[in-house]
Amino acid sequence: MDALKEKIRNEGLVLSDKVLKVDAFLNHRIDPPLMREIGEEFARRFAGEGISKILTLEASGIAPAVMAGLELGVPVIFARKHHSLTLTDNLYTARVYSFTKQVESNITVSRQYLGEGDRVLLIDDFLANGKAALGLIDIVQQAGATLVGLGIVIEKTFQAGRAELEAQGYRVESLARIASLTGGEVRFVD
Ligand code: G4P
Ligand code: NA
Ligand code: NA
Repeated sequence: MDALKEKIRNEGLVLSDKVLKVDAFLNHRIDPPLMREIGEEFARRFAGEGISKILTLEASGIAPAVMAGLELGVPVIFARKHHSLTLTDNLYTARVYSFTKQVESNITVSRQYLGEGDRVLLIDDFLANGKAALGLIDIVQQAGATLVGLGIVIEKTFQAGRAELEAQGYRVESLARIASLTGGEVRFVD
């Protein structure tokens, strides 16, 4: 997606060899026209798959997920993050470890909103090591729903996420694929 790559080149900040800061349009300030294009692109790539729900994780997955949901005409559910949980009776829960933040959190989705027969598209802002995606997949499986695929805004191909997800047989569609961030410069795949 050229508009996204251009935005990353112009407004992304390379913080280290591993981390790209995109607060200017995705993680803090949001660019609605760009987000709309992102939603349209996800909808194009997953058209005809019979998707019934989009699932994402708060906070930064919500904007692209909502735009994709608008295009596909389906509801969007965002998993919530909690540090600890007591009442879990009506919730699906999974544990997610963040390498970036070095914390483990529980993510939850109400059993009311996801169930057998659902065909689910997962959307997230970043794919790094894939731990967030694996937690969301765990929840899709607990619900007895079918995972159609994953739509990722920015993939860091030098981290292990895609390999792990593809090894489990899942389709991964990323709108910008970053090959490296070394030397303070963003290099895209192709
Ligand atoms: P993983 O899910 O792929 O294993 O990655 P990791 O645990 O490292 O990611 C933890 C958080 O950091 C996630 O956001 C993820 O989207 C984000 N992240 C990972 N790599 C980058 C990066 O290079 N740049 C930026 N800006 N974010 C990155 P989160 O904790 O869920 O936060 P939120 O923004 O959704 O609230
Ligand atoms: Na994030
Ligand atoms: Na995220």
